[in-house]
Amino acid sequence: MQIIPLLYLIVFPLLWLLSFINATFKKYSINVLSTFNLLVWMYAVYSIKIVMDIAQFFYSLKGSESDSQFLQLVSTEFLLKQCLKVILPFFFLVPSCRKNLLFSLLVLGSFCWSMDWSLPDWSALFFTIPYCFSLFSATYALLWLLKEHPSQKVAYMYNPFQLAVKYIRYYVTAINGKGHGVHSPFVFDLIVKVLNDQQNHPAYQNIEPIRQDLLSNHQPITIEDFGAGSRVKQSPVRKIATIANSSLKPKKFSQLLFRLVNYFKPATIVELGTSLGITSAYLAAANNNAKVITMEGSTAVAEIAQSNFNRLNLHNIKLVTGNFDYTLSQTLNDINNIDFAFIDGNHRYEPTVRYFNQILSKSSQHTLIILDDIHWSEEMEGAWEEVKNHPAVTLTIDLFFIGLVFLRKEQQQKEHFVIRF
Ligand SMILES: C[S@@+](CC[C@H](N)C(=O)[O-])C[C@H]1O[C@@H](n2cnc3c(N)ncnc32)[C@H](O)[C@@H]1O
Repeated sequence: MQIIPLLYLIVFPLLWLLSFINATFKKYSINVLSTFNLLVWMYAVYSIKIVMDIAQFFYSLKGSESDSQFLQLVSTEFLLKQCLKVILPFFFLVPSCRKNLLFSLLVLGSFCWSMDWSLPDWSALFFTIPYCFSLFSATYALLWLLKEHPSQKVAYMYNPFQLAVKYIRYYVTAINGKGHGVHSPFVFDLIVKVLNDQQNHPAYQNIEPIRQDLLSNHQPITIEDFGAGSRVKQSPVRKIATIANSSLKPKKFSQLLFRLVNYFKPATIVELGTSLGITSAYLAAANNNAKVITMEGSTAVAEIAQSNFNRLNLHNIKLVTGNFDYTLSQTLNDINNIDFAFIDGNHRYEPTVRYFNQILSKSSQHTLIILDDIHWSEEMEGAWEEVKNHPAVTLTIDLFFIGLVFLRKEQQQKEHFVIRF
């Protein structure tokens, strides 16, 4: 009995069972990624087996035959079968091939032929079906992981030229920032009282010196790479100044967040992406009665954020450290209702939409959800579109660098504003 098909037969149903548990009972937090990782391992085992088969074949011929006989023995059929074993699983990754029944059967048939599995051997079928299935899944997982690898992430963002073109288009087409022509009283008030509020609030003077300190701090720290959150290619050791320079929301938008909290007076605020704590500090300083729950994956970065909160005497912030993929659902379990959320981390399509939906599950019609960097990349623009089209969303305001999402029931007809800010 072949050990590898047997291994597949045991591991494969187990993996799918785990995925099922993960999807159904999310609290167990068995991450799909670990399933994918295991599948990739299986793919590696499979590849090693093919290489070993080839090596063993050549070894068995060596010495026993003359050179010409040796070459004859390396039959075309053998080589063809080895090639098919490697290539065929990839055919199933092309949706149009996968959906074509005849083609799928052809691929499966060729695969069985390359593996020397014959139909009359019914007992082999018992192993063959899950083996093929897991192999194709493993191939898919491998490609998926390669695409998800951190080195690939930076490439997804628009280049500075594309961003500039997009910004110019936004600037030219956006509604005048003074609110002229805006008929919605809610949006008009927001523009006049919040977007255009030029007051110099005392909190600004407390927080901005901390940003300056961070920008001039050249101490290196070791950080974990979490998501596509920075415009700069990630390196595990980075200077605090570099992080401050590339990751923090500029003064203009941090202070807008302050004014939004000041205006709407949310009781519970959730922030995804603390970094060094500047926006969290603004959110907390805007309303001492609000509870700010901010989340950060990188421990070293979170420690600096916490020291900044202490320095600012902000005691209404709870800092949660860990990957949002795990911490968000755990944190949301302890919250009844979110009034204000700022999603500023892991700027990819799938996680952004997922975090949005998770936050939505704890939202009311008075909740304001803010998405950062909505035009940062094709994926983020896709996520922004998805959010705009969500049935619960009734009003959105695109300020190019951030997007405001309202769920107000009074808003009878969905409206999407693009406002110059
Ligand atoms: C753009 S920064 C946040 C900046 C901050 N809001 C500010 O402007 O002051 C995004 C942060 O999110 C964190 N992050 C990204 N993806 C994450 C994930 N999946 N889990 C936990 N943290 C993550 C990164 O480590 C990074 O520090």
